[in-house]
Amino acid sequence: MAKNRKVFIDLVDKAIATGDTMKSEDLLFSYKGIFYPATVCSPEQFKALEAFEARSDDVILAGYPKSGTNWVGQIITDLVTTCAKTNEDETNSVNDELDEFPYLEVGDAEKYQRMKKLPSRRIIFTHLMPHNLPESIFKNKTKVLLLLRNPKDVATSYYHFSNGLSPLPSYETWDEFFTAFMTGKMPWGFYFDYIFEWNRHIDDENIMTITYEELKENRAMGVKKIAEFFGLSLTEEELQDVVDRSSFQAMKDNSEKTHGAFGNVLFRKVVEDGLVMGWTEVRQQRKKPLVNG
Ligand code: A3P
Repeated sequence: MAKNRKVFIDLVDKAIATGDTMKSEDLLFSYKGIFYPATVCSPEQFKALEAFEARSDDVILAGYPKSGTNWVGQIITDLVTTCAKTNEDETNSVNDELDEFPYLEVGDAEKYQRMKKLPSRRIIFTHLMPHNLPESIFKNKTKVLLLLRNPKDVATSYYHFSNGLSPLPSYETWDEFFTAFMTGKMPWGFYFDYIFEWNRHIDDENIMTITYEELKENRAMGVKKIAEFFGLSLTEEELQDVVDRSSFQAMKDNSEKTHGAFGNVLFRKVVEDGLVMGWTEVRQQRKKPLVNG
């Protein structure tokens, strides 16, 4: 297993174990008016993050939770890793060395000191709104790929995710969840504030947007676009391998290694005859109720 996946799995397992023992009202804390999960973030960490020095060659993926950040994160990591392997003589280093949880705001307050020692190119994911990101990202014109997904699917995904993971508050009904979603009570804030805030940066030269929907429609095109944006040069064959490894089925099959038990919550859909379906569609197709569906 790649070193950083062990860090990922260990951190998530620990968060789940801690979440299991916590009272619902203690699961989130508020920092500068936005909620975050107390099992994986802290105010001390957010304070330390302000001084984080981004590099101009860092590779950053920004996306609201449930927009497909694990998916696009895998594509980016695969592209950087493949490129670094092919160009071993360059300063590029294989990112298996990234011995940190890939989401910038998740971990501990000392993480940013450790990250200084990491070789380029560092891969960083974040759910933070732009005004809560370290200023150095914008000052150093670090490239940011902004991933967007339509709010209906984000909300549906967030509902199932919250109910499947003990570190997040759970909801008895969809209505209860939807009220929280539409009043900004979600971890990482209000979806529409997120879109509004990032919209101010839409014309920045270092920012490119991609949507979950366009990637789903044409993964090969999306992968090529991402590689070009970050200046990662791969052969057509290498690009195709990245495309193949990032299908829903391929990632679901590999999820035990990449995400551990958390993979069951993340890749909640099933694949039948190459079609990715949610539980509702599966139920309709099978025409019988599913237990725990
Ligand atoms: P659903 O819950 O709608 O299925 P994030 O990684 O930001 O938490 O987003 C999770 C969403 O991305 C989930 O959506 C998950 O199924 C979807 N996803 C993960 N890998 C994917 C892939 N290879 N192709 C399409 N969607 C993927």
